[in-house]
Amino acid sequence: MTSTRGAFGIACCPASGSRRRVMLPSDMANHRSCILVSAVVLLWSQIALPLAAQQPQARIKIDTERTIGEVHPHVFGNFAEHLGRCIYGGIFEEGSPLSDAEGFRKDVMEATTRLGVSLLRWPGGNFASGYHWKDGIGPRDQRPARPEHAWGAIEPNRFGTDEFLKYCERIGAEPYICINAGLGTVDEAREWVEYCNEARHTWWADQRRKHGRDRPWGVKYWGLGNEIDGPWQLGHKNAEDYGKFALEAAKAMRRADESVKLIASGSSNFGGAADWIGWNRAVLEKLRGEIDCISLHTYIGNRDNNFERFLAASQDIDERIEIVEGLIRAAQSGRPNARPIYIAFDEWNVWYRARGGSEFDTGRTALQERYNFEDALAMGMFMNSFIRHANVVKMANLAQLVNVIAPIFTNKQGLFLQTTYFPLVEYGKQRNNVALDLLLSSPTYKVGNRRPLPYLDVSATFERGNRLVYLNVLNRSEKMDITARIDNVEGRLAGEVGVWELNHPDLMATHDFGNDQKVRPVTRAFAASITNNGFSYTFPKHSLTILRLKLN
Ligand code: AHR
Repeated sequence: MTSTRGAFGIACCPASGSRRRVMLPSDMANHRSCILVSAVVLLWSQIALPLAAQQPQARIKIDTERTIGEVHPHVFGNFAEHLGRCIYGGIFEEGSPLSDAEGFRKDVMEATTRLGVSLLRWPGGNFASGYHWKDGIGPRDQRPARPEHAWGAIEPNRFGTDEFLKYCERIGAEPYICINAGLGTVDEAREWVEYCNEARHTWWADQRRKHGRDRPWGVKYWGLGNEIDGPWQLGHKNAEDYGKFALEAAKAMRRADESVKLIASGSSNFGGAADWIGWNRAVLEKLRGEIDCISLHTYIGNRDNNFERFLAASQDIDERIEIVEGLIRAAQSGRPNARPIYIAFDEWNVWYRARGGSEFDTGRTALQERYNFEDALAMGMFMNSFIRHANVVKMANLAQLVNVIAPIFTNKQGLFLQTTYFPLVEYGKQRNNVALDLLLSSPTYKVGNRRPLPYLDVSATFERGNRLVYLNVLNRSEKMDITARIDNVEGRLAGEVGVWELNHPDLMATHDFGNDQKVRPVTRAFAASITNNGFSYTFPKHSLTILRLKLN
């Protein structure tokens, strides 16, 4: 068994060792009764086998005193890039009967609000590294259209800083702006902070006022560039050059507003030749006095159509987080007053189909990934990993919000909700809870030559006020229902358990316009028969379950 904080791969298959010895004369008296006992055992096993099959194969122990950290609301962040139809035709569609006077699609805003997006990253992504923010302010008709070199479209610049910040206010999300650390300059970044946050009468603050916003926008979160470690990035740099640029940008941005929180560009490039650990180490060494977070990006895919292998990606996600956590500690070691640094997992998702023939799909139809049921399960896997590392993962952004690898998909007439939408909504209810360090034993499986991993991928959070435990369980076995004994340590378990479950017989089931009811969660009450402050529950094969347990 292990705690959910430690490395996974704990086999709980009991070793069936038996010791043999030679029978002595003194044993003979017992021999007959032995035969009798064996016969009874045999008979009993015939009768009892169906019962035995329901005996727990797994165990989950909950202790609300074993806490990991707060599940920060920003873990339920999202991302909107000028890419494909995410902004134009997604968030923003001028002249559409579905849009308001500002050009914001009302149906998308409503779906976004229900999704509970706490923080929105913008304007990219790869787009950020070629974007000059001054092109996107002032009267819309006077803004320049520019060729966009990350994704091969024309950028009309009709949606810019003020539109974005207004949008964030409308959906109740904290804005998070990523500067251009590719082809941009340090001064451009400093002026962007001034435009958004300066309260006095300066040139850029007065430009903002001229464009309709008197009060500063007060943008707190700023990314120091996007995926600068990737050779695909405009203005890609090595770690040393990036460190120098980012340090100067951080300094200058803080002169404009010392209260800003800064996120360094961590690893996105895990390809064979990339020294991803070296990148993070160097960035942390250089920037540890200035940054509040370092980012991580990870996209996964089921390229070889192997469900269990696909959902084993938690090994990579956990490992990347734990390695970067270690690097943060190394960078801070010996410095008692070290600035706290956390991880912003500011791009994550399933993305492998809509990549086109070239490196990336390009233009206005780019990245229109259609999600299926197994992708929805992957949402639970990512969220479980973030919750298990709630002490260090303080921000996470699903990439992206609408149309582009997104849970919301539009056309000119309306939208549908992709399969991935529903687990995101449900996990979102756990924001501000405290993550719990569970004890887990579960049947395991192996992928390639990696260490074994449990079929049950789990996390839990505790809502102290209402004394509710949320137990999040992904059963990633394709064929096996798994019964677990769930034991609780502190507080008495009430018998009534709330169940939220996402399951579907077809792993490939997808949604479409007018047909987004297929992969939907069911909720029910489960009357648990409590013994010794625990009960058994069967998690169906290929399912995601959230149990809500009330503690008295
Ligand atoms: O989210 C799509 C793209 O993936 C982003 O632009 C980039 O940062 C990442 O490679």
